[in-house]
Amino acid sequence: MAKWAKEAAEEAGAEVRLKKVEEYLDTTDANPGWQKYLDESKDVEVAETDDLIWADALLFSSPVRFGNVAGQMKKFFDAQGGPWSEGKLANKFVSAMSSAQNPNGGQEAVVKAIYTNVMHWGSIIVPIGYTDDSVYAQGGNPYGASGTATREGFANDLEAAVKHQAKRLVEITSKSLD
Ligand SMILES: Cc1cc2nc3c(=O)[nH]c(=O)nc-3n(C[C@H](O)[C@H](O)[C@H](O)COP(=O)(O)O)c2cc1C
Repeated sequence: MAKWAKEAAEEAGAEVRLKKVEEYLDTTDANPGWQKYLDESKDVEVAETDDLIWADALLFSSPVRFGNVAGQMKKFFDAQGGPWSEGKLANKFVSAMSSAQNPNGGQEAVVKAIYTNVMHWGSIIVPIGYTDDSVYAQGGNPYGASGTATREGFANDLEAAVKHQAKRLVEITSKSLD
């Protein structure tokens, strides 16, 4: 999803840093799919506070973990107390995405949990809304594009919504910074 977002944001004219948060579980024993993720993301750098400060817009994504943001992402958020207290995270344009196993597995809750976090930073939230037909096709979550691993056509539907969300974030950010 992040790679689709990067592609669309660059097409819309943004300079993009694609980052991941640090993994702290020995995940490969529990789920072979995680090894695939680790392999495919091995060249993606781990996000630093500086990346947050540098960016005008941020697009976060987290898989659902028992209805909540993954601990790896929460750990990253919780490490931002210093820059937050100095006002360095204020006024960022922020959008969020998620994925889960089930159609109602917590996708909306996770996107909203991310928004709750960044409201405390003073972010300007940019939800996907029902601003494109792709939103309906990906399951109709207006908070952010969200994948459902068990749904047929998952990847095709989702790609268009992710790309729309990223493009919309770039366009709204650009207009506001003019
Ligand atoms: C600890 C844990 C908790 C999870 N909780 C949920 C859940 O509450 N609802 C759901 O639909 N999927 C849940 N999942 C499945 C993930 O959300 C799903 O695998 C995700 O879409 C893909 O991310 P992943 O590749 O990191 O697992 C959970 C997975 C793990 C490992």
